[in-house]
Order: sequence, then C-alpha cells, then structure tokens
Amino acid sequence: MRKILNFGSLNADYVYTVNHMVRGGETTASLGMTIFPGGKGLNQSIALARAGLPVYHAGLIGEDGDFLLDTLRADGVDTQFVGKIPGRGGHTIIQVDKNAQNAILLFGGSNRAITPAYADEVLSHFSSGDLLLLQNEISALPHILDKAHDIGMEVWLNPSPMDEGVFACDLTKVSGFFLNEIEGAELTGSGDPEIILTRMAEKFPNAAVVLTLGEHGAWYAKDGMRVFCPAEKAEAVDTTAAGDTFTGYFLRGMLDGLAPEKALQLAAKAAAITVSRPGAAPSIPNYEELNASRV
Ligand code: RIB
Repeated sequence: MRKILNFGSLNADYVYTVNHMVRGGETTASLGMTIFPGGKGLNQSIALARAGLPVYHAGLIGEDGDFLLDTLRADGVDTQFVGKIPGRGGHTIIQVDKNAQNAILLFGGSNRAITPAYADEVLSHFSSGDLLLLQNEISALPHILDKAHDIGMEVWLNPSPMDEGVFACDLTKVSGFFLNEIEGAELTGSGDPEIILTRMAEKFPNAAVVLTLGEHGAWYAKDGMRVFCPAEKAEAVDTTAAGDTFTGYFLRGMLDGLAPEKALQLAAKAAAITVSRPGAAPSIPNYEELNASRV
C-alpha cells in the first residue's frame, strides 16, 4: 500500500483576539489569548488523519514542543519521524479580528533546523509511488523535493508562506499544487484566477493545480480540464487552518478515486467547519462530522 508522508512544520500558535489588527507604532490590548497546536505541517497531518488517512509526519520540535507531538499522536498520526532538538520550537503570534480574519507572525525555530542529512534518513523509509506532502515552513525544502522526486514519490506542494524558499525549488518536480490567490499570483504574476490557472498549466503542464479562493470557491485544473466548486456557507469565527483542512480532505477524496469536483466539495465542506471554530488543529473536523453537519 502506498504510504503518505507529510514533511512539515509544527508550531505553537499564540492566538490573540483583537478588535483590529495592531498597526505599526501602535500598542493595543488584546481581548484574549489561547495557545493552540498548529503549523501548516501539523495542521495538514491532522486533517489527513481526521479525514481517515494513515499518515506519517516528519519534522522537528524544540524543547517546548511535546504538546505538538501529543496532538499528532492523539489523532493517530505516525510520529516515528518527528525529532526533538535543544532550543525553541516553531511558534506564531496570530491576531484574529472580529471579521475572523487573521494576521500571522511566524518564528521558525526547530522547523528551520531540518538538514538534508535528516531528510535523507526520513526519505530512505519511503519508495516510488508513495505520496509526499510539503509546505514552505521548513528548511531544506529544495533538497527534500529533489530527493523525493529521485525516489519516484508523488509530491504535492502547498507553497505557503510564499517566499524565496519556494523559488529555490525545482517546481517542475511537483505533481500537484495547493495554492491560494496570493501564492498563485507570486507564481504567475497575475491575481486573476483564470490567468493563474492558464499560466500554471503553461509552466507546469504535468501538474495538477488546486486553487482556493476562500468564500469565492475553489478550482481544480489538470491536463486541460478545469472544475469549479463554490464555497460552503459558514459562520466564520477564525479562518486559521481552513486551507490546511482543504488540503487534507482534497487528498482524501483524490486517493479515494473521487472525481475532482467531488473531492473539491468534500474539502470545501470540511473547511467550512474549520472556519466556524477557533484555533488551528483543534478546529479541523473528523470525517464523521462532515456527514452530521449541515454546512
Ligand atoms: O495555516 C495555518 C498555520 O499557519 C497556523 O497554524 C500557523 O502555525 C501558521 O503556520
């Protein structure tokens, strides 16, 4: 059976509720603070696991990160490839305003201590046909992509947060992209979804593209085929991890052999539940909840 590996970040999210996002030079009191397990990597592993897929997570926590490991284990994620190193782990400071929008300040910590040698050791346990999911919150990303491609793994990349680390990668080795409009614009030079899809197909003709547009729905494109799915209606309180949820549930649908339209619908339904609850990983629904939910 093909294995699923998610090589990604693990963060402690310090989430502050605010009336408005703090501006440069301003000091403002928050309305409350909660610490949640998060990180795009951890969130996507939790989403895969709650979608019912067996998943291995690889990454590094710091001395303060035991609760992140506990979070993964509680959902049945295989953590044999998660290491612990001295010093601080990854963390974020997240402001969530009254409109459920967020602003995230990221400190990489242990996520930036991943070396090519560490990655090689992890990847030596995987083989051709296995699936690798990546985001851009860890070090050694170009090496991991190259190595996984050499092995023959199918690599799906969520190039978030978008920065120069993504452009250091040979993106022709990616089998599938999970993009939002910002990432799509960075990769193609246009913020227009239509143009993003056209230019992605020109640049990466063999790759699938999932383009999420928040409340404006999502697209899937591959081999000249395009499928659109509207967003599910939701009472949003915190949009953190909505994209991560979408990723995990889309992969569940795809690996189940669903038509892309159905996989998008499944993912949209799960993401709508996530935005209706606070926090990152804790807000991600499990598969049974989707059936019970009316969103
Ligand atoms: O995608 C949401 C995640 O991004 C948060 O959990 C935070 O840790 C940041 O990495």
